[in-house]
Amino acid sequence: MSDLLHRFRVLWDEIAPVGRDADSGGYLRYALAEPELRLRAWFREHADARGMPVTEDGNGNLFATWGDPDAGDAVLTGSHFDSVPHGGAYDGPLGIVSALLAVDELRARDRKPLRPIIVAAFVEEEGARFGVPCLGSRLLTGEIAVDRAAGLRDAAGVSFAEALGDRPAGARTDLLSRVAAFVELHVEQGRALAGTDAPVAVASAIWPHGRWRFEVRGEGNHAGTTRMGDRRDPMLTYAFTVLAANKEARLRDAHATVGRVSVQPNATNAVPSRVTGWLDARAAEEETLRGLVDAVAAKATERARRDGTELTVTQESATPLVAFDGGLADRLARLLDAPVLPTGAGHDAGVLAAHLPTAMLFVRNPTGVSHSPAESATDADCAAGVTALARVLEELACR
Ligand code: GLV
Ligand code: MN
Ligand code: MN
Ligand code: MN
Repeated sequence: MSDLLHRFRVLWDEIAPVGRDADSGGYLRYALAEPELRLRAWFREHADARGMPVTEDGNGNLFATWGDPDAGDAVLTGSHFDSVPHGGAYDGPLGIVSALLAVDELRARDRKPLRPIIVAAFVEEEGARFGVPCLGSRLLTGEIAVDRAAGLRDAAGVSFAEALGDRPAGARTDLLSRVAAFVELHVEQGRALAGTDAPVAVASAIWPHGRWRFEVRGEGNHAGTTRMGDRRDPMLTYAFTVLAANKEARLRDAHATVGRVSVQPNATNAVPSRVTGWLDARAAEEETLRGLVDAVAAKATERARRDGTELTVTQESATPLVAFDGGLADRLARLLDAPVLPTGAGHDAGVLAAHLPTAMLFVRNPTGVSHSPAESATDADCAAGVTALARVLEELACR
C-alpha cells in the first residue's frame, strides 16, 4: 500500500465510527450536536499536531492556518463535517481530511507556503438541523442576516444561537478580505465520473436551487366517522403537490424532490389537520427553476381550492446559479489534466464564489449515490484527490 493510501486510511478510520448509525450504515452528524462536536474536536487535535493554530469566526466555522498568517492573502480549502440524516461518509469530511493530508504532502516535499494555507470546517452546510443550507458560509459572507440565523430552530426547538452558545457574529469581511482563493474538494454526487478514467474533476458551475415549504391546513377529524365528502384533508393537497412537482420537473429537465414531510397529528385513525412538505427544486437555469416552482405552486393552490384546504408557500432558502471562476477552473483542469463538469449539489464553495475566486475538485463516486449510506469513493481515488489538492495548493500558495 502506498504511503499516502495508508495515511488516508488511518485518518479515515479515526472518523468513520463517529455518528454512524448501526442500522442504516449512514451518518447522523448534525451541526453542533454530539457527533459533529467530536469531529470538530478531532479537527482541532489534528490541526494542533500540525502546528496549525485554529480560530473560530464567531459563526461556528473553524479555520486552521499553516504558515505565517501575515505573509499575504491566504488560500482557503476545506469543507464541512455535518451530514444529512443517514447521509454518506464522504460528503463533507472528505474535503477536510484531504486538506489536512494535502498539507502533510506539501510538508513532506519540503514545500513552504508563501501565503498562508487555511483549512476550514464550515458549520451546518447541509441545513439538516436548522433548515438553511450553507448557514456557516452564508453568515461569514453576510448573505444571511444575523437575526434570522440566530433564531433558526431545530426540531427540538433549540435555536442556532443557543447551539452556538452565543449570537452569531455575521459577516466577517476582515477574514474574507485576506483570502485570495477558496478550493473545496468534495466527493462527486452523481454518475459523471463513474466508469470514466478520471478520478478527479474540476467544477464549472452549480445549478440554481432552493427550498420551499408547502404548508397545507385542513380539518383534523375522525377517520371512521367523517364522510368522505365532508373532509378537508390536507394530505390530498400534499400528495397532489408531490406528483405535480415530479411532473413539472420532468417536463423541464429539472430536479424536484419532496424528501421531508411533517403530518399533524400523525395518527393512523385521524384525518390530518396539517401537512407540511418541503420542496427542493433545482434546474440548470434560474428561469427554468422559477417556472418550475411557479407551476407547482399554481397547481397546488388550485388543488387546495378543490380540497377546501389552505396552502401557504414559503421560500426557505435560495442559491442562485454559481458559475465558478472560469480562469481558475481552466487553470486547475490543465494542471490536473482533469475534466470540467457542473453539478446540481449545493456547497459552501457556491456561497463563497460570489466573494472570492473559488474552485471545486470532485472525487469519483462509483455508485453515483450521495445523501445516502451508499455514497462511495475508493481509497485510491481519495488518495488521487489528496494529490490533486496538494498540487493545487502548491500552485496557488507556494509559488
Ligand atoms: C447539499 O448538499 C445540497 O446540495 O443540498
Ligand atoms: Mn450534502
Ligand atoms: Mn457537502
Ligand atoms: Mn452540499
